[in-house]
Amino acid sequence: MRIAMIAAVAENGAIGIDNKLPWYLPGDLRYFKAVTMGKPIIMGRKTFDSLRKPLPGRTNIVITRDSNYQPEGVKVVHSLDAALSLAEEVGLINGLDEMMIIGGEQIYRLAMERADRLYLTRVYQSFEGDAWFPELDQTCWSESQREDHFSEDEPPLKYSYQVLDRVQ
Ligand SMILES: NC(=O)c1ccc[n+]([C@@H]2O[C@H](COP(=O)([O-])OP(=O)(O)OC[C@H]3O[C@@H](n4cnc5c(N)ncnc54)[C@H](OP(=O)(O)O)[C@@H]3O)[C@@H](O)[C@H]2O)c1
Repeated sequence: MRIAMIAAVAENGAIGIDNKLPWYLPGDLRYFKAVTMGKPIIMGRKTFDSLRKPLPGRTNIVITRDSNYQPEGVKVVHSLDAALSLAEEVGLINGLDEMMIIGGEQIYRLAMERADRLYLTRVYQSFEGDAWFPELDQTCWSESQREDHFSEDEPPLKYSYQVLDRVQ
């Protein structure tokens, strides 16, 4: 099963601030929903806190070190390996070919070397942040798709949906 990560990343690498997204991009939220729907989604406890409730139509797998943590409607695990194994099981049962790692920074860093594909929304503006996407080793990735967009929401933003596949 392919291990994919999905993230929206500002020009300066910011992905979050105060446990929220730094921007308002409804088009990207629809894209995120379309790409992740039906698949197991793996996230860190802080990202789950920012969502407040499980995302419907997807098996929500949350990684934490807290053995007492058990919010309703999610599968709790205590390591990345346990998350990947559980997602693999769910995928096998449901005939899926891809699992999605949805953040945040700590989990992207942990999972980067295991990922086969990256779905990156490139936001062409810098934002204040306290969470960052790890720097990519350009020798490892090749762009297989790119789609440019413009949002007329406030502030207006140029962004692209980029898909990168691992080459080594
Ligand atoms: N732009 C985007 O696409 C995007 C996507 C997702 C999130 N975000 C943003 O990213 C920020 C959150 O990122 P973050 O790095 O602060 O937090 P995070 O990665 O979402 O979650 C961190 C938590 O995961 C658990 N964890 C981390 N490593 C672990 C390990 N090795 N074993 C077991 N548990 C482990 C810990 O939970 P416990 O403390 O409970 O032990 C840790 O506090 C927010 O601002 C959010 O809005 C942005």
